[in-house]
Amino acid sequence: MISEFGITSKGEKAKLYSMKNGNGMEAAVTDYGASLVKVLIPDKDKKIQDVVLGYDSAIGYEKGDVYLGASVGRVANRIGGASFELDGKIFELTANDNGNSLHGGREFYNKRMWEVTGAEDNSVTFTIHSPDGDQGYPGNAEISITYELTEDNEIKIQYHSVPDKDTLFNLTNHSYFNLSGHASGSVLEQEVMIAADAFTKADEESIPTGELVSVEGTPMDFRDYKAIGKEIESSYEALVFGQGYDHNWVLNGSGMRTVAGMRSKETGIVMQVDTDLPGLQFYTGNFLVSEAGKEGAEYKKRHGACFETQYFPDAVHKEHFEGPQVKAGEAYSTTTVYRFSVEN
Ligand code: BGC
Repeated sequence: MISEFGITSKGEKAKLYSMKNGNGMEAAVTDYGASLVKVLIPDKDKKIQDVVLGYDSAIGYEKGDVYLGASVGRVANRIGGASFELDGKIFELTANDNGNSLHGGREFYNKRMWEVTGAEDNSVTFTIHSPDGDQGYPGNAEISITYELTEDNEIKIQYHSVPDKDTLFNLTNHSYFNLSGHASGSVLEQEVMIAADAFTKADEESIPTGELVSVEGTPMDFRDYKAIGKEIESSYEALVFGQGYDHNWVLNGSGMRTVAGMRSKETGIVMQVDTDLPGLQFYTGNFLVSEAGKEGAEYKKRHGACFETQYFPDAVHKEHFEGPQVKAGEAYSTTTVYRFSVEN
């Protein structure tokens, strides 16, 4: 189903695309920013819960700067010093985060109208043309993002591009999930699992030092489900630097696999995250202050948690980190799945 989703300050008419499956689950996405707007799922008491933070119309997405539901790129997360070298050339990016580049730095993909190049009952494909030099990155690229709602209660997101020059790609989805409902407040009592034996140590500006640190015996250990809030206020250096969880975990294994989970005892809703990528930024909304969200909701600190699948932050400056370089004419293709179920 397609409906109007507001008019941006540039006069662009945004649309909302709603998808439904046979199990009563629904998801909605908009062409403004290729953003994920709604995820509706019946909870253990058959009450419909919307478990993703968002805005009522495209205007909210245009004004907001906390990346609710956002498609982020060309390179999500941080590039130290906001520049990098590729094929012997230096590329300058915009420093928008303590002298570093965050989530593209400028002319963000989540602030653009995407073209709809495919819309079926259960899937929508958004495409943008990102020109050579866009945000400072080399190479023309048609980038497509496909959202699909499957009969297995999965929101499957596929990213694809073939650049015409060597460049960098690291696209992700920045949705904030709250499995007790988007307007229910803090997620600190909800539980999270991350299948990772290590995380990338970072400095005060969240730039990785290059060191992989074992999670064993630290508050970063999420190998078994535990409440997000259990150790979040600990004086462990990483948590002090991040003002909570805002780190990249070194995901165990490779290829498409389940890498994380979240669950709410209140609603029984469980979310599992699958990806083919090596890293996951688990971010607990530490910098949400007061965001006017959907249906009059106010989103504050730690009212949602993001599971941003990615190549490790600043990988372009660390030889032992995989990606995010993509060769001219070669395909950049990755998939992330958010799968939902309900436990009683
Ligand atoms: C970053 C946070 C940042 C947030 C912006 C996350 O991906 O790791 O540091 O504040 O995005 O919403």
